[in-house]
Amino acid sequence: MVKIGVLISGSGSNLQSIIDSINKKYIFAQITVVLSDRKNAFGLERARMENIPAIFLSKKEAGNNDDFNSKLVEILKNYQVDLVVLAGFLSILNPNFVKTFKNKILNIHPSLIPSFCGDGFYGLKVHEAAIKQGVKITGATVHFVDEGTDTGPILLQKSLEVLPNDTAETLQKRVLTLEHELLPLAVKLFCENKIQFIENGKTTKVLVLNN
Ligand code: GAR
Repeated sequence: MVKIGVLISGSGSNLQSIIDSINKKYIFAQITVVLSDRKNAFGLERARMENIPAIFLSKKEAGNNDDFNSKLVEILKNYQVDLVVLAGFLSILNPNFVKTFKNKILNIHPSLIPSFCGDGFYGLKVHEAAIKQGVKITGATVHFVDEGTDTGPILLQKSLEVLPNDTAETLQKRVLTLEHELLPLAVKLFCENKIQFIENGKTTKVLVLNN
């Protein structure tokens, strides 16, 4: 069974969507650890309610970002994690982390990448930018993580219409419901070995395999 480590910084509603999918047997996997870089992240509570080890790792106590990343890797290895899921995790992973879990880190982002992504685009800021730009369509993306910010190979995307009276907040809410479908599906595809990586020079594309 695939062992999953979920990294969070906030409410953890995406973590909850994975927990629910495992409980419903939509996904055959086990979350062996949940890690947070914020002590009060509600996602830690969600994990504890399911008896999943939930660990807060202080960046401040770690010293610098590289030491923080080394600690994350050490814990994930201790919990024998095969797949790392970034579910609203706001710290930057360093090249050693990405190399250690190459093609095994999924991230959910609340826009259609390559729009409204990269440094500084997270949470509500993404939707504020979409509203400001006046886009008519937005959505959510699940991608594998590489050394860049939101630049890794795209696995799944789903779109929705921006309504004339949408605010960043209403848009965030509707995109979140998309995320809660998309992330469990991405995890399921990974767990069922239905993902193929196609390397072409410096670019990697991802193909979803049919049965
Ligand atoms: C989600 O909307 C996720 O896509 C976003 O943070 C939110 C976390 O919500 N992630 C990013 O913006 C990453 N760049 P959650 O804690 O309720 O899952």
